[in-house]
Amino acid sequence: MPIEAVIFDLDGVIVSTDGLHYQGWQRLADEEGIYFDREINERLRGVSRMESLEILLERADRTYSAKEKQEMADRKNGYYCKFLHERLGPNDILPGVMEFLAELRRRGIAMAIGSSSRNSPTILEAIGMADYFDATADGNDISRSKPDPEVFLLAARRLGKRPEACLVVEDAEAGVTAALGGGMAVLAVGFASQDSRATLSAPDLASITVERILSFSLESA
Ligand code: BG6
Ligand code: MG
Repeated sequence: MPIEAVIFDLDGVIVSTDGLHYQGWQRLADEEGIYFDREINERLRGVSRMESLEILLERADRTYSAKEKQEMADRKNGYYCKFLHERLGPNDILPGVMEFLAELRRRGIAMAIGSSSRNSPTILEAIGMADYFDATADGNDISRSKPDPEVFLLAARRLGKRPEACLVVEDAEAGVTAALGGGMAVLAVGFASQDSRATLSAPDLASITVERILSFSLESA
């Protein structure tokens, strides 16, 4: 079936926020005396804030109450939001993104954001794209985070498109699982580009054309 809409993950697909998330979690881990490194940080890609904290706490030597966990998640988010306000801007939009989006728009393909992040509105505002997409669905709108397909199905519904007519662009394993689980094709980029389950893959959006993804959908129709 031809692709009528493309749903983009935000962090790691449209914008580079990975380093800021990492610094926020590292600071929290240091304060709590919990071991944390970049390899553990990779496991947080696409995963919700609370689930990310649970992964970080696997290395803790004591248990934490629900109240303590909430305080820790809030503390990390405070650091992360401060970094977003101080450092995030249009220069953090990833290579090829603006050209790819402009070409989709020229061809009349609908575009949405489907992100696990509850900071999506702040991030889109900071990079000057608050009004760019035809629809957005994010961590504020859903009860089940990726790898559950909820956020992508909601984005498709907000666009008025059937899942089979949507292609998701993702950089996280959890996001690839979510897209496939929702019955959508998926273009895996960045860290997910080695994921053999993906429909298409590319190192980044500068390395694949809109023509390629649209011709693929016609080939497989
Ligand atoms: C995802 C990121 O987009 O959002 C994850 O890949 C992050 O690393 C998740 O944990 C939740 O983000 P936030 O901004 O709501 O803490
Ligand atoms: Mg991502």
